[in-house]
Amino acid sequence: MEARVGLGLIGSRAMDPFWPTADHWSVKIPLATPHQRLAQLAERGFVVLEDAPFEVPAEQYESLQYLDWKSGGDTNFAPIASADGELDCRGFWDKGKTDKDALWTSNAERVPTIRQYVESVGANFGRVRIIKLEPQTREDAIRSIHRDDNNRFNPDHEGWVVRSWWELTDNPDSYMLLMDSGPDGLPDPATEARVPLHLGARFVVDTQRLWHVVVHQGAAPRYALITSFETSPALSDWIDAELAEHARLPA
Ligand SMILES: [Fe+2]
Repeated sequence: MEARVGLGLIGSRAMDPFWPTADHWSVKIPLATPHQRLAQLAERGFVVLEDAPFEVPAEQYESLQYLDWKSGGDTNFAPIASADGELDCRGFWDKGKTDKDALWTSNAERVPTIRQYVESVGANFGRVRIIKLEPQTREDAIRSIHRDDNNRFNPDHEGWVVRSWWELTDNPDSYMLLMDSGPDGLPDPATEARVPLHLGARFVVDTQRLWHVVVHQGAAPRYALITSFETSPALSDWIDAELAEHARLPA
């Protein structure tokens, strides 16, 4: 497992015909702000957790109402919690909110496992949704690499909003591609990391800091739960409790 995560110098511009330029919208999203950050994400911007101890039955997540919303490829999303409880994929900022203090939607009743899981974290959560992503090669995926605007309208003295994933389908050859920014504000290939997307894989990413996109090698759609969480002592404690064994520091 360890060897499959964070391999360092595996990125190469030569592999990627498309590359973002200085006029990419992500470059304008703030990186340095006074918000409280998570110590666990300080070094690399992401952390891998233990695999989920249980599965969400496919009948539950496949029965949800999905909306046609393109983000990071050919995607559809089922909102489970949103800014106002409506089945809406727009950013919370469209409703004057930061991505936290979310309300459950009508979809939430159909996925009690997920609702209980998110509530059990004990942290303030924002959007909770399931992504359905069609297969895409690395070359396709790179066209959608971006950073998230998770903290728009977030007061400086409050926690920093990050995102967590839980893979609901088994795609061990697919991966989330992550890169820090270089001095030019563009993704730095020397920092590339790949998080494998097998069934039950869970991880937390500062997606405002890291450029990200998923390379999905499968033949069928990949489903995953994505949840925004506000940084807090409760979220930090939860991460410590759920951390993958290989991600723990030596005692
Ligand atoms: Fe994103």
